[in-house]
Amino acid sequence: MSITVTLQEKRVFAPSKDFVQHAAIDAKTFRAWQAQAKKNPQKYWEGAAQELRWKKKWTKVQKTKKGSMSDTQWFLGGKLNVADNCLDRHVEENPNRLAILWEGEPGETVSWTYRELLIQVQAMTAGLRKLGLAKGDRVAIYMPLVPEAAVAMLACARAGLTHTVIFGGFSSEALKDRINDAQAKAVLTADGGYRKGAWLPLITHVDTALKVCPTVKDVVILKRADVGGANRFKKAVGEVDGTSTAKRHDWYSLTGSLKADEVKKLGQPEWVDSEHPLFILYTSGTTGKPKGIVHSSGGYLVGALRSSRMVFDLKPTDLYWCTADVGWITGHTYLVYGPLAAGASIFMYEGAPTTPTLDRFWDMIERHRITILYTAPTAIRAFMKLGTQHPKGRDLSSLRLLGSVGEPINPEAWMWYRENVGGNRCPIVDTFWQTETGSIVISPVPAQTRAKPGSATFALPGYDVAVVDKGGKPVKLGSGGFLVIRKPWPSMARTIHGDPERFKTQYFTEFPGLYFTGDGARIDKDGYIWCMGRVDDVLNVSGHRLGTMEIESALVSHPTVAEAAVVGRPDDLKGQAVVAFVTLKADASAKIKNDPVAASQAKSDLRVHVTKEIGALARPEEIRLTESLPKTRSGKIMRRLLRELAVSGQVKGDTTTLEDFSVIASLQHSDEE
Ligand code: WT7
Repeated sequence: MSITVTLQEKRVFAPSKDFVQHAAIDAKTFRAWQAQAKKNPQKYWEGAAQELRWKKKWTKVQKTKKGSMSDTQWFLGGKLNVADNCLDRHVEENPNRLAILWEGEPGETVSWTYRELLIQVQAMTAGLRKLGLAKGDRVAIYMPLVPEAAVAMLACARAGLTHTVIFGGFSSEALKDRINDAQAKAVLTADGGYRKGAWLPLITHVDTALKVCPTVKDVVILKRADVGGANRFKKAVGEVDGTSTAKRHDWYSLTGSLKADEVKKLGQPEWVDSEHPLFILYTSGTTGKPKGIVHSSGGYLVGALRSSRMVFDLKPTDLYWCTADVGWITGHTYLVYGPLAAGASIFMYEGAPTTPTLDRFWDMIERHRITILYTAPTAIRAFMKLGTQHPKGRDLSSLRLLGSVGEPINPEAWMWYRENVGGNRCPIVDTFWQTETGSIVISPVPAQTRAKPGSATFALPGYDVAVVDKGGKPVKLGSGGFLVIRKPWPSMARTIHGDPERFKTQYFTEFPGLYFTGDGARIDKDGYIWCMGRVDDVLNVSGHRLGTMEIESALVSHPTVAEAAVVGRPDDLKGQAVVAFVTLKADASAKIKNDPVAASQAKSDLRVHVTKEIGALARPEEIRLTESLPKTRSGKIMRRLLRELAVSGQVKGDTTTLEDFSVIASLQHSDEE
């Protein structure tokens, strides 16, 4: 079965009177923002920037080089520190406000006030400086979803270091590639993490990677056995292998060994330019290796803060839970930087949604009285499958707002979320954005927007979003096209690390003068935007972005593989599933001929290989071994045909440009485990 986003253009849900009455941003303010953003976007964003604390005010709001949008700077001349904005400001106001409440899968909790979080961050800032790291140096963070991961990010921000967080699910190969591309001088990591009752070692991956990462001089390891007496971790802490020349430091020994006056001195914020790179985050694209998307400090935080307040209606009484991992952009902007800049209390959970019981999520919402939940459609669809008894069995009355992100949400899942989690009471914000946009671009504003299930509704103030045809002209209401942004915005990516040319060609050439998201969209008669998913060679598997080329390169790097083509097949749980068509080299191909056992072994070897090269998240759901791949006369693989084959097992479409018809015939009969 596949997910089809059936347009339900006539179904509209208005927020309740009660929600509107108590909204953090009232209708008057919102309308004024909308009007200002339309008339003078720079003025609007300048107003948003005033909500941050600046060491030195900017002299110019925005500068775009020779009318080329790819070369834009914001809040020029301004100086600030991101961690100062996320911590010190709030500590001065109310040091005892809860910053992070964390729960681990086995059940232990950690709770830090803003003051306690600041102490941790100052100590790590001092520790990093003590290691000799200085402004502009890059630091890799490869950690499980523990509060120390936020400490790591904020300490880098405080010291003016540019962090690159690498999702803990990535393999040592992927880790190595990213560390080397970023030329990171240090790695912050942990011995491992917990998921589904299993211990997932991280340090062993770091060990493997570091053998070929010459730039890394220091590794800071959070040994979880030593933290808070959680002895259950003890068995898992192994002695680390010392093949690399990098020095190893124990996390809490590094921060704990410093004297108070040292922490005071070395823990101070580094005042950086607004444009100073806060982080690099690798994401998959249409070509080759993942690209390091570079984000700024000032503009990024302006976007993160304004959208956090506007979309999540944050109030001091909220306990806000974003289920994303810090390894993704959602974990950067809406787990750490945005909510903390807003002074919110955040909940963080490390573990699986269904461990030890199927109602773990609902159990935590009930126990901690969580008020806002921000998660992905893929999770919602998995919960739908498990049945309504799980959310129904818990008291979810503390919830007042629900969010969705990462992929199109089908109206059925939207309705299920509303009824069974939101008690038909909570507004839902379906938020469209990307690693490159830094913060939310299209979303309902909960107290102000009448939502339609399956539509992300309208662009937020300050975003000039359009659905255009191939020529870049806006389409008529009621039709479909390509989703673009026509004017710069503060939290937009600044470049691709080490490849500024690729940044321009990737995003700004398809539609000259416009930013192209890579997504298709429809705009309905009422002007509502329906984001329909990627129109390029990027897959979205369980809300995770994967490049088909990236998986193909991983497959081709296996010694038996001659050629590979990867396509997405609609999947009712994951959104898309990875299907790989692979041709083997002659000798390998001969071995599997008429030998189903050998063929099945070859496929499983390839799955293991992709897991090793990228990580389990990229492992093909299905591998189809074939004699050859369908190509056009110019040699391009005909993905459209392969997609059709992956879905239906046969090809109906036009095949007249095919080089070899017999290829299709053989594909239709090949495979089948
Ligand atoms: C791609 C960006 C930014 C959050 C996490 C993903 C898809 C994201 C939605 C949504 C429809 C969505 C798009 C986009 N996407 N949110 N609400 N409705 N599609 O970040 O890994 O950079 O992926 O995710 O296809 O281009 P990402």
